[in-house]
Amino acid sequence: MGSGGSSSKLWPSVLLLLLLLLLQAVGGLAPLSAGASDLPLVINTWAFRKATEAAWSTLQAGDSELDAVEKGCGQCEIEQCDGSVGYGGSPDEHGETTLDAMIMDGNTMKVGAVADLRRIKNAIGVARKVMQHTRHTFLVGESATMFAESMGFPSEDLTTQKSLSIYLKWLNQKCQPNFWKNVTPDASKSCGPYKQTEDFSREEKNILEKTVHVHNHDTIGMIVIGQNGSIAAGTSTNGAVHKIQGRVGDSPIAGAGAYADSTAGAAAATGDGDVMMRFLPSYQAVEYMRTGMEPTVACQKVISRIRKYVPFFFGAVICANTSGSYGAACNKVPGFTQFHFMASNPTLRQPSEQIVDCI
Ligand SMILES: *[C@@H]1O[C@H](CO)[C@@H](O)[C@H](O)[C@H]1NC(C)=O
Ligand SMILES: *[C@@H]1O[C@H](CO)[C@@H](O)[C@H](O)[C@H]1NC(C)=O
Repeated sequence: MGSGGSSSKLWPSVLLLLLLLLLQAVGGLAPLSAGASDLPLVINTWAFRKATEAAWSTLQAGDSELDAVEKGCGQCEIEQCDGSVGYGGSPDEHGETTLDAMIMDGNTMKVGAVADLRRIKNAIGVARKVMQHTRHTFLVGESATMFAESMGFPSEDLTTQKSLSIYLKWLNQKCQPNFWKNVTPDASKSCGPYKQTEDFSREEKNILEKTVHVHNHDTIGMIVIGQNGSIAAGTSTNGAVHKIQGRVGDSPIAGAGAYADSTAGAAAATGDGDVMMRFLPSYQAVEYMRTGMEPTVACQKVISRIRKYVPFFFGAVICANTSGSYGAACNKVPGFTQFHFMASNPTLRQPSEQIVDCI
């Protein structure tokens, strides 16, 4: 190691590295989308690499964009990505794991979705069946489970040792944190059952003191654009940990959790779904891109719009336009200053982790 000969050979590569760093600095945010305008494209929220790989290899095998989204999100359901997708995560107030998922075809604008799905592991698979075998868009709760069983999905307990211990720990710490407000007994101090109160003074206080629970509710959101420009998108999640029974987040809602339109682009969102769903961020980002706005800027505009009302919301959006350029944006809050997501296209050659600074 370190002979004179090899260190002189090292110089050209050191210079090249410096030059690259300089270019990166000059380019600012540009490197994210630079050179990415080629198809096919797979992007998904967070560093869920195996999901990207599953979607990418599905495309390589010649299967459809919808198949790729189903396989990609399904991969996360199998490996319980971050504990926030699939079985055994995010127990609700009764300790049960329930799943939300959605898939959208940007050619036909058809959507299949399920929410509050119980005892079925492959939520995005069931969402696909809603699209393929019914004239409906969205099935929920025990009835969605019955539908899944009729489609041949096995019924299984979604509770694991891990989700059980998260639940028991929460019970032991007086059910903190939880999602109640304006109730008695005081939800910030004790468990339910709760009754409504007319004392709204407490709510204002809670909003100001709102602590950000980063990674409390993540989701896989995925966008796939085929060689021929067909776009599909989908999501899968087990929702917010300690959610009130029956709670449905943004993920399974078209335009909120994800949106795809092969004539304009696609977007997917992750984060505090209870807040984000009110703004239809994925729909809005696609509409921005329809006007020619760059994907990164479209994502940023959506984040800014939500922030006007809820400054400390936890959230991120990924965006891709019809030519395969992509970008992302996130809301900067304590503990969340960068957002990691995955991308794969012919230029990147393999699924690669991307990082964007939050705004
Ligand atoms: C592109 O290919 C998909 C199958 O992967 C097909 O469903 C779709 O109709 C094609 N779209 C166009 C615009 O040809
Ligand atoms: C997609 O975005 C890229 C870069 O942001 C831009 O050059 C390209 O024209 C856009 N494509 C469309 C169809 O708007």
